[in-house]
Amino acid sequence: MAVLVAVLVAAGAVLRVLQARGPEAVALPGQLQKAAEKRLVGTAVDDTALRNEPGYRRNLAEQFSSVTPENVMKWAVLEPVRGKRDWAAADRLVDFAAEHDQAVRGHTLVWFSQNPPWVEALEGDELLQVVREHIRTTMERYAGRIRTWDVVNEPLEDDGTRRPSVFQRELGDGWVEDAFRTARVADGEAKLYLNEIGAEAPGPKSDALYALVRELLGRGVPIDGVGFQAHLNRRGVPDGFRANLERFAALGVDVAITEADVALKLPADAAALRVQARVYRGAVKDCLAIPRCRSITFWGFTDRHSWIPATQPGRGAATLLDAELRPKPAYRAVLKALRGRG
Ligand code: XIL
Repeated sequence: MAVLVAVLVAAGAVLRVLQARGPEAVALPGQLQKAAEKRLVGTAVDDTALRNEPGYRRNLAEQFSSVTPENVMKWAVLEPVRGKRDWAAADRLVDFAAEHDQAVRGHTLVWFSQNPPWVEALEGDELLQVVREHIRTTMERYAGRIRTWDVVNEPLEDDGTRRPSVFQRELGDGWVEDAFRTARVADGEAKLYLNEIGAEAPGPKSDALYALVRELLGRGVPIDGVGFQAHLNRRGVPDGFRANLERFAALGVDVAITEADVALKLPADAAALRVQARVYRGAVKDCLAIPRCRSITFWGFTDRHSWIPATQPGRGAATLLDAELRPKPAYRAVLKALRGRG
């Protein structure tokens, strides 16, 4: 009896381990990265999945030519306690990328969110020095391995005014310029991006972003690119996205889609998945239409690991593969579009 119990307990443990590792990768009809030719195709990476799920790792390695840390390079993770930096998770992703010949998008150096509490409490010149130090230390560590950085993330409100943050409050408008100048000195080879959410279509936010970038470039501030996050939903790609990419590119900067996903109301039926596929295809084609649109990054690639259900309760199914890593219509639509057959 005791032996039987022991065997059952052991079997249960093995089963739990297998379940924790998640689904194995199914063979997909193609490789997004191969289909893209001249553009990078990227995804945000969830560190827990990277550590624990072979199927996740396999798809990550096979499908993508670029990776973005979803959270592990945010300041709160890198330096939770002042002066005590923890690079373990960030290094894990950079090492994975090197092993698989992938580019890394450094994300992100100066942002209003996910900062450690001690940063939020700093004032004036001390904050300025600490921000500069953070940019320098982080970029220098990965110099030569991370060639593209989201230096500044989400500086604007929807109405086009500056978003309140500890940086805005303590340093005034100049913090954006200072961040880019500091970044250029830290790593003269890296491409420096300003990344923004909800600025896909012309409107108050996008117009303010355009004016900001033009003004900064005019004064010699080293901005190499503008990232459009493209967190979308079934309403589709906002009208004018392509023209918007074009007007930014005409300023002489690169552009990129940096965080694309398409949130659906749950449960998502077949019709919703077809709409989603069209939205993804539209976004991809808009980027491909612009020579200076360098990369298309998705904010996760499986519904098993996506920020949408946690941040928009009742919504999800936002990515290209389902929770079992099976391709959704969106995956096939993106593959076709990348191959120029969309
Ligand atoms: C999100 C992550 O996906 C979540 O896991 C985290 O809890 C919050 O941040 N814009 C960005 C990303 O630039 O860093 C955000 O990522 C999503 C919105």
